[in-house]
Amino acid sequence: MSLEATLPRTPDLPAEEDLGAADERAWRDLLARISRQSVTKHFEAYVDVPWDDPAYAIDPSDPRFELPLTDSLGATAWYRALPQPQRARLGLHMIATFIKNGTQFENVLKRGLLEYGAELADGDPEFRYLYHEVIEEAQHSLMFQEFVTRTGLPVDPLPGYARWFARGLPRLARRFPELFFVFVLGGEDPIDHLQRVEVLRGRRWAHPLVQRISQIHVIEEARHLSFARAYLRRNVGRLGWFKRHMIRLRAPIILGNMARLMLEPSAQIVREYRLPRAVFNEAYRGNPIHARLRQDCLAKTRALCTELGLVTWPYDALWRGFGILRS
Ligand SMILES: [Fe+2]
Ligand SMILES: [Fe+2]
Repeated sequence: MSLEATLPRTPDLPAEEDLGAADERAWRDLLARISRQSVTKHFEAYVDVPWDDPAYAIDPSDPRFELPLTDSLGATAWYRALPQPQRARLGLHMIATFIKNGTQFENVLKRGLLEYGAELADGDPEFRYLYHEVIEEAQHSLMFQEFVTRTGLPVDPLPGYARWFARGLPRLARRFPELFFVFVLGGEDPIDHLQRVEVLRGRRWAHPLVQRISQIHVIEEARHLSFARAYLRRNVGRLGWFKRHMIRLRAPIILGNMARLMLEPSAQIVREYRLPRAVFNEAYRGNPIHARLRQDCLAKTRALCTELGLVTWPYDALWRGFGILRS
């Protein structure tokens, strides 16, 4: 069977579930359902990805890694004028950076979930679900890191300011879990959007290894997104005025910065490929196609925050400033 035939078409990919009101019964039902799905539909990094199949081998000059014309940087005359092997290598380097950022995000996520889980009472059904999610994220990170290693490209970690900021986040999961789960959506939603729309619909990154990793990830992330959204729906309304102010203030700052880290080339790529500042600006600043992608990546999170009353005046100015509010 061809790989194409094994890939679900996008409309058949699991949808995240939404919890209506803050209904205790619906909450418990959701936890039971997604916990069960973690048992019946899960993947392992070294079982479900055929790493050593020659069809999955990575060649940095493979034209399937080239950025397409629909990509913000791929559309520039500068990129199109690069020699073919450079175009492919740069495209692969961007995928590897994106995936390594995903591993670092999942590292913080797992530590935060464990920190939060440590406070739960005996018999709380959240405990079981959270441990399923930690295990799934560990498999994702094994899969992501194996991919990055196999590219053979040196990939810098996140910039120092992001690593410094990330150090405090697991503690936030205990003290202010609502804000922590906004951060979780800020990482999971853009990755999920790009993997669903861009990769599985074949709009970019057509290499079978990237597609297989994306397919596995999208299937499991549907549960994680369902949990984070339902958690926020259930708990944000119960916050006091101070935390409500803090979440309104910090949500756009967290989401805006994360979208930038996920969607733009790293400083290492800019340096290594001598990406001119003017080309960077042409691709990522004032480019309506890129602005649209940034907004689309956070569309579901923005809609949820709006529904929860978090995108109100004067905080909406921050959303606008980070370019994550649809105008
Ligand atoms: Fe993941
Ligand atoms: Fe996840």
